[in-house]
Amino acid sequence: MANNASNGDHKSSKPPPTPSPLRNSKFSQSNMRILVTGGAGFIGSHLVDKLMENEKNEVIVADNYFTGSKDNIRKWIGHPRFELIRHDVTEPLLVEVDQIYHLACPASPIFYKHNPVKTIKTNVIGTLNMLGLAKRVGARILLTSTSEVYGDPLVHPQPESYWGNVNPIGVRSCYDEGKRVAETLMFDYHRQHGIEIRIARIFNTYGPRMNIDDGRVVSNFIAQALRDEPLTVQAPGTQTRSFCYVSDMVDGLVRLMEGENTGPINIGNPGEFTMIELAETVKELINPKIEIKMVENTPDDPRQRKPDITNAKKMLGWEPKIKLRDGLPLMEADFRLRLGVAKKL
Ligand SMILES: NC(=O)c1ccc[n+]([C@@H]2O[C@H](COP(=O)([O-])OP(=O)(O)OC[C@H]3O[C@@H](n4cnc5c(N)ncnc54)[C@H](O)[C@@H]3O)[C@@H](O)[C@H]2O)c1
Repeated sequence: MANNASNGDHKSSKPPPTPSPLRNSKFSQSNMRILVTGGAGFIGSHLVDKLMENEKNEVIVADNYFTGSKDNIRKWIGHPRFELIRHDVTEPLLVEVDQIYHLACPASPIFYKHNPVKTIKTNVIGTLNMLGLAKRVGARILLTSTSEVYGDPLVHPQPESYWGNVNPIGVRSCYDEGKRVAETLMFDYHRQHGIEIRIARIFNTYGPRMNIDDGRVVSNFIAQALRDEPLTVQAPGTQTRSFCYVSDMVDGLVRLMEGENTGPINIGNPGEFTMIELAETVKELINPKIEIKMVENTPDDPRQRKPDITNAKKMLGWEPKIKLRDGLPLMEADFRLRLGVAKKL
């Protein structure tokens, strides 16, 4: 069932564009200019924290604040190596950079279904604009694609060579198909123009700074547990997901950007949980008194999801370190702070 696809060793037929003079020169000792689109969002803001740790990096965030917030990057505003631009990636952007982490795109179904046409424009026109920028300035570009490109997978766990089982006309297609086109654009620019590309296929990620009411299952359960509300599990509850803590995810993205492989490479935690198991774990860790309630499911919800991370291990020397039981309390602490719910002693 697995189809033959790219596994990260692509060679382009055209010579690569001239890299910025900042790269491979004496200036690179002092400066690497990095653009992070969607850097005010959940994963983006943690990535910015990581990149800013390196004093040789200058970081530019471009974000339209649709689902992100200045609060997430507040500590960097005013820093001499940091710049924040209110910008929608569906419009061209002209900045001199060496690397582009292209994350801009709503990731939660509630938000990406809110304006599906805008979601697909963000994925297609936004990625075209960022590839145009990469081509112009000779930057390396990394796309955060998604496990959703596998749709409702018929292969389990999902290797990168699997071409997926995606509904092209469903309510989730603006996101799933949008990311698939974004991946196609990345490879076409790579083959046709010699652009240095990296593609990460991200599986469910969780951690502090997730939008509290974004409908994603981990944030939903933690918010419900803290508000003393029943944990609502979508039927049948036996569907599975794998959850990667955000610091592991950021580590994987940086390794992919710095490494030699184009990808696509799965980055996610292969630990697999049913939704009922996740609800029971949240209940046990956060609020043992609440009930677990079954509710109706949404269309095209995949039944199972688990990354095959053989390539990430082999090519990036990466595997997740944080277990779900250790990550959930870190997220709980952040949600308590933001919801103003103190821990009962
Ligand atoms: N979190 C996950 O579990 C997960 C899973 C798979 C893939 N991803 C991918 O990772 C990336 C980041 O996801 P996240 O969870 O941090 O989501 P997020 O919604 O928190 O962050 C997305 C950011 O992009 C910004 N944005 C959206 N549309 C934009 C536009 N047109 N122009 C400029 N900025 C725009 C938002 O304001 C936000 O700051 C996304 O590309 C997403 O598809 C995330």
